[in-house]
Amino acid sequence: MSTQEFIRNIPKAELHLHLEGTLEPELMFEFASRNNVPIPYRSVEELRQAYRFSDLHSFLKIYYQATAVLLREQDFYDLTWAYLSKIYSQKVRHAEVFFDPQAHTSRGISFETVISGIHRALSDGKEILNISSRLIMCFLRHLPAEAAMETLQQALPFKEWICAVGLDSDELGNPPEKFGTVFDEARKEGFLTVAHAGEEGPPAFIRQAVERLRVKRIDHGVRCMEDVQLVEELRAKQIPLTVCPLSNVKLRVFRDITAHIIKQMMDASLCVTVNSDDPAYFGGYIAENYMAVQQAFHLSESDIYTLAKNSFHASFLSKEEKQAYLSELDRFVSSHALIENVVA
Ligand code: ADE
Ligand code: ZN
Repeated sequence: MSTQEFIRNIPKAELHLHLEGTLEPELMFEFASRNNVPIPYRSVEELRQAYRFSDLHSFLKIYYQATAVLLREQDFYDLTWAYLSKIYSQKVRHAEVFFDPQAHTSRGISFETVISGIHRALSDGKEILNISSRLIMCFLRHLPAEAAMETLQQALPFKEWICAVGLDSDELGNPPEKFGTVFDEARKEGFLTVAHAGEEGPPAFIRQAVERLRVKRIDHGVRCMEDVQLVEELRAKQIPLTVCPLSNVKLRVFRDITAHIIKQMMDASLCVTVNSDDPAYFGGYIAENYMAVQQAFHLSESDIYTLAKNSFHASFLSKEEKQAYLSELDRFVSSHALIENVVA
Protein backbone atom coordinates (compact mmCIF):
# COMPACT_ATOMS: atom_id res chain seq x y z
CA MET A 1 0.00 0.00 0.00
CA SER A 2 1.47 3.37 -0.97
CA THR A 3 1.61 6.22 1.56
CA GLN A 4 -1.15 7.89 -0.44
CA GLU A 5 -3.37 4.83 -0.07
CA PHE A 6 -2.46 4.59 3.62
CA ILE A 7 -3.58 8.21 4.13
CA ARG A 8 -6.76 7.73 2.12
CA ASN A 9 -7.75 4.55 3.96
CA ILE A 10 -6.79 5.26 7.54
CA PRO A 11 -9.91 5.91 9.67
CA LYS A 12 -9.97 9.55 10.75
CA ALA A 13 -12.15 12.36 12.10
CA GLU A 14 -12.56 15.82 10.64
CA LEU A 15 -12.97 18.56 13.26
CA HIS A 16 -12.61 21.82 11.34
CA LEU A 17 -14.89 22.11 8.35
CA HIS A 18 -17.26 24.89 7.31
CA LEU A 19 -20.21 23.44 5.42
CA GLU A 20 -20.50 26.67 3.42
CA GLY A 21 -16.87 26.13 2.45
CA THR A 22 -17.73 22.85 0.72
CA LEU A 23 -19.76 24.60 -1.98
CA GLU A 24 -18.00 23.39 -5.12
CA PRO A 25 -18.34 25.63 -8.21
CA GLU A 26 -20.37 22.96 -10.05
CA LEU A 27 -22.87 22.79 -7.20
CA MET A 28 -22.97 26.59 -6.99
CA PHE A 29 -24.00 26.78 -10.64
CA GLU A 30 -26.62 24.06 -10.10
CA PHE A 31 -28.17 25.89 -7.12
CA ALA A 32 -27.99 29.24 -8.95
CA SER A 33 -29.87 27.80 -11.88
CA ARG A 34 -32.57 25.98 -9.91
CA ASN A 35 -33.12 28.96 -7.60
CA ASN A 36 -32.87 31.63 -10.31
CA VAL A 37 -30.07 33.45 -8.53
CA PRO A 38 -27.67 35.37 -10.80
CA ILE A 39 -23.95 34.80 -10.20
CA PRO A 40 -21.28 37.14 -11.54
CA TYR A 41 -19.27 34.39 -13.28
CA ARG A 42 -19.87 32.86 -16.70
CA SER A 43 -18.40 29.43 -16.03
CA VAL A 44 -17.01 27.04 -13.44
CA GLU A 45 -13.53 27.82 -14.81
CA GLU A 46 -13.99 31.57 -14.45
CA LEU A 47 -15.21 31.07 -10.90
CA ARG A 48 -12.21 28.92 -10.01
CA GLN A 49 -9.97 31.64 -11.45
CA ALA A 50 -11.41 34.02 -8.84
CA TYR A 51 -10.15 31.81 -6.03
CA ARG A 52 -6.91 33.73 -5.54
CA PHE A 53 -6.79 35.17 -2.07
CA SER A 54 -4.40 37.58 -0.42
CA ASP A 55 -5.60 36.98 3.13
CA LEU A 56 -8.58 35.78 5.19
CA HIS A 57 -10.60 38.93 4.50
CA SER A 58 -10.30 38.63 0.72
CA PHE A 59 -11.49 35.02 0.92
CA LEU A 60 -14.45 35.75 3.19
CA LYS A 61 -15.84 38.27 0.70
CA ILE A 62 -16.21 35.56 -1.95
CA TYR A 63 -17.29 32.93 0.60
CA TYR A 64 -20.21 35.05 1.86
CA GLN A 65 -21.17 36.14 -1.67
CA ALA A 66 -21.43 32.51 -2.72
CA THR A 67 -23.97 31.68 -0.01
CA ALA A 68 -26.53 33.70 -2.01
CA VAL A 69 -27.37 30.56 -4.02
CA LEU A 70 -28.50 28.67 -0.90
CA LEU A 71 -32.19 29.32 -0.37
CA ARG A 72 -34.16 26.18 0.47
CA GLU A 73 -33.96 23.38 3.00
CA GLN A 74 -33.08 21.02 0.14
CA ASP A 75 -30.09 23.20 -0.80
CA PHE A 76 -28.64 22.84 2.69
CA TYR A 77 -29.36 19.12 2.55
CA ASP A 78 -27.66 18.71 -0.85
CA LEU A 79 -24.64 20.77 0.21
CA THR A 80 -24.14 18.68 3.35
CA TRP A 81 -24.80 15.42 1.55
CA ALA A 82 -22.24 16.23 -1.17
CA TYR A 83 -19.62 16.78 1.54
CA LEU A 84 -20.48 13.52 3.32
CA SER A 85 -20.30 11.56 0.07
CA LYS A 86 -16.89 13.05 -0.61
CA ILE A 87 -15.40 12.24 2.80
CA TYR A 88 -16.88 8.75 2.74
CA SER A 89 -14.30 7.93 0.07
CA GLN A 90 -11.53 9.38 2.28
CA LYS A 91 -12.39 7.23 5.28
CA VAL A 92 -13.63 10.04 7.50
CA ARG A 93 -15.56 8.09 10.12
CA HIS A 94 -16.64 11.09 12.18
CA ALA A 95 -17.13 14.75 11.23
CA GLU A 96 -17.69 17.80 13.43
CA VAL A 97 -18.92 20.48 11.08
CA PHE A 98 -19.45 24.23 11.38
CA PHE A 99 -22.27 26.26 9.94
CA ASP A 100 -22.67 30.05 9.86
CA PRO A 101 -26.38 30.75 10.49
CA GLN A 102 -25.89 34.52 10.30
CA ALA A 103 -24.65 34.24 6.72
CA HIS A 104 -28.16 33.02 5.88
CA THR A 105 -30.52 34.69 8.36
CA SER A 106 -29.05 38.04 7.25
CA ARG A 107 -30.42 37.20 3.76
CA GLY A 108 -33.88 36.40 5.06
CA ILE A 109 -33.48 32.60 5.23
CA SER A 110 -34.92 31.21 8.45
CA PHE A 111 -32.70 29.50 11.00
CA GLU A 112 -35.04 26.51 10.81
CA THR A 113 -34.61 26.12 7.03
CA VAL A 114 -30.84 26.06 7.36
CA ILE A 115 -30.54 23.69 10.28
CA SER A 116 -33.29 21.32 9.13
CA GLY A 117 -31.53 20.64 5.82
CA ILE A 118 -28.16 20.17 7.47
CA HIS A 119 -29.54 17.96 10.23
CA ARG A 120 -31.46 15.73 7.81
CA ALA A 121 -28.31 15.14 5.75
CA LEU A 122 -26.20 14.41 8.85
CA SER A 123 -28.81 11.87 10.00
CA ASP A 124 -28.77 10.20 6.58
CA GLY A 125 -24.97 10.27 6.76
CA LYS A 126 -25.10 8.14 9.87
CA GLU A 127 -27.77 5.81 8.52
CA ILE A 128 -26.53 5.33 4.96
CA LEU A 129 -22.77 5.98 5.14
CA ASN A 130 -22.20 5.14 8.81
CA ILE A 131 -20.43 8.49 9.37
CA SER A 132 -21.15 9.95 12.81
CA SER A 133 -21.22 13.70 13.23
CA ARG A 134 -21.68 16.71 15.48
CA LEU A 135 -22.88 20.14 14.46
CA ILE A 136 -21.15 23.34 15.64
CA MET A 137 -22.84 26.71 15.26
CA CYS A 138 -20.40 29.56 14.61
CA PHE A 139 -20.93 33.22 15.39
CA LEU A 140 -19.58 35.72 12.88
CA ARG A 141 -17.09 37.77 14.86
CA HIS A 142 -17.12 40.78 12.50
CA LEU A 143 -20.75 41.36 13.58
CA PRO A 144 -21.73 42.77 17.01
CA ALA A 145 -21.94 40.51 20.06
CA GLU A 146 -25.66 41.38 20.27
CA ALA A 147 -26.23 39.71 16.90
CA ALA A 148 -24.48 36.59 18.18
CA MET A 149 -26.70 36.62 21.28
CA GLU A 150 -29.79 36.85 19.07
CA THR A 151 -28.53 33.90 17.02
CA LEU A 152 -28.00 31.90 20.20
CA GLN A 153 -31.65 32.53 21.12
CA GLN A 154 -32.78 31.38 17.66
CA ALA A 155 -30.80 28.19 18.15
CA LEU A 156 -32.37 27.17 21.45
CA PRO A 157 -35.38 25.33 19.97
CA PHE A 158 -32.85 23.19 18.03
CA LYS A 159 -30.50 22.64 20.94
CA GLU A 160 -30.61 18.86 20.58
CA TRP A 161 -29.07 19.13 17.12
CA ILE A 162 -26.17 21.42 18.08
CA CYS A 163 -23.25 20.23 20.15
CA ALA A 164 -21.08 23.33 20.44
CA VAL A 165 -20.77 26.98 19.51
CA GLY A 166 -17.75 28.44 17.72
CA LEU A 167 -16.36 31.74 16.53
CA ASP A 168 -15.24 32.46 12.97
CA SER A 169 -14.91 35.15 10.26
CA ASP A 170 -12.49 38.13 10.35
CA GLU A 171 -10.16 37.62 13.30
CA LEU A 172 -8.10 40.81 13.22
CA GLY A 173 -9.84 43.52 15.25
CA ASN A 174 -12.35 41.03 16.70
CA PRO A 175 -10.80 39.45 19.81
CA PRO A 176 -12.48 36.50 21.55
CA GLU A 177 -13.30 38.64 24.61
CA LYS A 178 -15.82 40.56 22.47
CA PHE A 179 -17.99 37.42 22.78
CA GLY A 180 -17.33 36.63 26.45
CA THR A 181 -20.94 37.12 27.59
CA VAL A 182 -22.39 35.22 24.63
CA PHE A 183 -20.14 32.25 25.31
CA ASP A 184 -21.02 32.38 29.05
CA GLU A 185 -24.68 32.14 28.07
CA ALA A 186 -23.99 29.35 25.55
CA ARG A 187 -22.15 27.31 28.20
CA LYS A 188 -25.06 27.85 30.61
CA GLU A 189 -27.34 26.36 27.95
CA GLY A 190 -25.10 23.31 27.80
CA PHE A 191 -23.12 23.97 24.62
CA LEU A 192 -19.43 23.11 24.39
CA THR A 193 -17.24 25.89 23.00
CA VAL A 194 -14.53 26.25 20.36
CA ALA A 195 -13.08 29.31 18.63
CA HIS A 196 -10.92 30.23 15.66
CA ALA A 197 -7.88 31.89 17.20
CA GLY A 198 -4.29 32.47 16.15
CA GLU A 199 -5.02 32.00 12.44
CA GLU A 200 -4.14 35.61 11.59
CA GLY A 201 -4.56 36.98 15.11
CA PRO A 202 -1.85 37.10 17.80
CA PRO A 203 -1.13 34.44 20.47
CA ALA A 204 -3.00 36.64 22.99
CA PHE A 205 -6.24 35.76 21.16
CA ILE A 206 -5.56 32.05 21.75
CA ARG A 207 -5.04 32.72 25.43
CA GLN A 208 -8.31 34.73 25.57
CA ALA A 209 -10.19 31.92 23.86
CA VAL A 210 -8.92 29.42 26.42
CA GLU A 211 -9.34 31.61 29.49
CA ARG A 212 -12.37 33.78 28.69
CA LEU A 213 -14.35 31.55 26.32
CA ARG A 214 -13.23 28.30 28.01
CA VAL A 215 -12.88 26.57 24.66
CA LYS A 216 -12.32 22.82 24.43
CA ARG A 217 -10.38 23.22 21.18
CA ILE A 218 -8.63 25.98 19.30
CA ASP A 219 -9.36 26.21 15.58
CA HIS A 220 -6.11 26.87 13.67
CA GLY A 221 -3.97 28.22 16.53
CA VAL A 222 -0.82 28.15 14.40
CA ARG A 223 0.44 31.45 15.81
CA CYS A 224 0.73 29.89 19.29
CA MET A 225 4.27 29.00 18.29
CA GLU A 226 5.30 32.64 18.74
CA ASP A 227 4.73 32.34 22.50
CA VAL A 228 6.78 29.70 24.33
CA GLN A 229 4.73 29.97 27.53
CA LEU A 230 1.48 29.51 25.61
CA VAL A 231 2.83 26.43 23.83
CA GLU A 232 3.71 24.97 27.22
CA GLU A 233 0.17 25.61 28.50
CA LEU A 234 -1.47 24.10 25.43
CA ARG A 235 0.82 21.10 25.65
CA ALA A 236 0.31 20.57 29.39
CA LYS A 237 -3.49 20.76 29.06
CA GLN A 238 -3.43 18.93 25.71
CA ILE A 239 -5.86 21.47 24.26
CA PRO A 240 -6.37 20.28 20.69
CA LEU A 241 -5.53 22.51 17.73
CA THR A 242 -7.46 21.95 14.52
CA VAL A 243 -4.85 22.86 11.93
CA CYS A 244 -5.80 23.37 8.26
CA PRO A 245 -2.58 23.31 6.22
CA LEU A 246 -3.89 24.00 2.68
CA SER A 247 -6.12 26.79 4.02
CA ASN A 248 -3.12 28.47 5.66
CA VAL A 249 -1.21 28.41 2.38
CA LYS A 250 -4.15 29.68 0.28
CA LEU A 251 -4.79 32.51 2.75
CA ARG A 252 -1.08 33.27 2.89
CA VAL A 253 -0.55 32.61 6.57
CA PHE A 254 2.49 30.67 5.32
CA ARG A 255 4.42 31.27 2.10
CA ASP A 256 4.05 27.65 1.01
CA ILE A 257 3.47 24.25 2.55
CA THR A 258 7.14 23.73 3.39
CA ALA A 259 7.04 26.95 5.47
CA HIS A 260 4.11 25.62 7.53
CA ILE A 261 4.71 25.26 11.24
CA ILE A 262 2.73 22.04 11.77
CA LYS A 263 5.76 19.75 12.12
CA GLN A 264 7.17 22.01 14.82
CA MET A 265 3.79 21.86 16.55
CA MET A 266 3.85 18.08 16.42
CA ASP A 267 7.43 18.01 17.68
CA ALA A 268 6.36 20.24 20.60
CA SER A 269 3.93 17.46 21.65
CA LEU A 270 0.85 19.58 21.00
CA CYS A 271 -2.41 17.77 20.25
CA VAL A 272 -2.42 18.59 16.52
CA THR A 273 -5.13 17.49 14.09
CA VAL A 274 -5.28 17.94 10.31
CA ASN A 275 -8.45 19.30 8.70
CA SER A 276 -9.68 20.94 5.53
CA ASP A 277 -11.49 24.19 6.60
CA ASP A 278 -13.11 25.22 3.26
CA PRO A 279 -12.12 22.46 0.84
CA ALA A 280 -14.04 23.79 -2.18
CA TYR A 281 -11.89 26.92 -2.07
CA PHE A 282 -8.52 25.69 -0.84
CA GLY A 283 -7.71 22.86 -3.22
CA GLY A 284 -8.34 19.75 -1.18
CA TYR A 285 -10.35 17.74 1.28
CA ILE A 286 -8.90 16.08 4.36
CA ALA A 287 -6.83 13.42 2.60
CA GLU A 288 -5.19 16.06 0.39
CA ASN A 289 -4.32 18.03 3.53
CA TYR A 290 -2.70 14.97 5.12
CA MET A 291 -0.83 14.27 1.88
CA ALA A 292 0.46 17.83 1.52
CA VAL A 293 1.90 17.74 5.03
CA GLN A 294 3.24 14.21 4.65
CA GLN A 295 5.10 15.15 1.48
CA ALA A 296 6.41 18.48 2.76
CA PHE A 297 7.79 17.03 5.98
CA HIS A 298 8.35 13.39 5.00
CA LEU A 299 6.01 12.24 7.76
CA SER A 300 6.19 8.56 8.61
CA GLU A 301 3.18 6.26 8.78
CA SER A 302 3.56 6.45 12.53
CA ASP A 303 3.15 10.27 12.34
CA ILE A 304 0.01 9.82 10.24
CA TYR A 305 -1.28 7.33 12.79
CA THR A 306 -0.67 9.89 15.58
CA LEU A 307 -2.59 12.56 13.66
CA ALA A 308 -5.53 10.19 13.09
CA LYS A 309 -5.48 9.13 16.75
CA ASN A 310 -5.46 12.79 17.83
CA SER A 311 -8.49 13.45 15.63
CA PHE A 312 -10.62 10.99 17.61
CA HIS A 313 -9.18 12.00 21.00
CA ALA A 314 -9.92 15.67 20.25
CA SER A 315 -13.50 14.99 19.11
CA PHE A 316 -16.66 15.58 21.13
CA LEU A 317 -17.60 11.91 20.99
CA SER A 318 -18.31 10.03 24.21
CA LYS A 319 -15.56 7.96 25.80
CA GLU A 320 -17.14 4.75 24.48
CA GLU A 321 -17.54 6.10 20.95
CA LYS A 322 -13.93 7.29 20.95
CA GLN A 323 -12.78 3.89 22.12
CA ALA A 324 -14.68 2.14 19.33
CA TYR A 325 -13.09 4.36 16.66
CA LEU A 326 -9.63 4.06 18.20
CA SER A 327 -9.95 0.26 18.11
CA GLU A 328 -11.01 0.44 14.46
CA LEU A 329 -7.98 2.63 13.80
CA ASP A 330 -5.66 0.19 15.56
CA ARG A 331 -7.11 -2.75 13.62
CA PHE A 332 -6.44 -0.87 10.37
CA VAL A 333 -2.86 -0.07 11.34
CA SER A 334 -2.07 -3.60 12.54
CA SER A 335 -3.54 -5.25 9.45
CA HIS A 336 -1.62 -2.78 7.31
CA ALA A 337 1.63 -3.63 9.12
CA LEU A 338 0.88 -7.32 8.67
CA ILE A 339 0.32 -6.91 4.92
CA GLU A 340 3.50 -4.84 4.56
CA ASN A 341 5.51 -7.53 6.38
CA VAL A 342 4.13 -10.27 4.16
CA VAL A 343 4.95 -8.27 1.04
CA ALA A 344 8.47 -7.41 2.28
N1 ADE B 1 -15.00 31.05 7.84
C1 ADE B 1 -14.77 30.12 6.90
N2 ADE B 1 -13.47 29.80 6.85
C2 ADE B 1 -12.85 30.55 7.80
C3 ADE B 1 -11.52 30.67 8.25
N3 ADE B 1 -10.52 29.96 7.72
N4 ADE B 1 -11.24 31.55 9.23
C4 ADE B 1 -12.22 32.28 9.77
N5 ADE B 1 -13.49 32.20 9.39
C5 ADE B 1 -13.81 31.34 8.41
ZN1 ZN C 1 -12.21 27.68 9.77
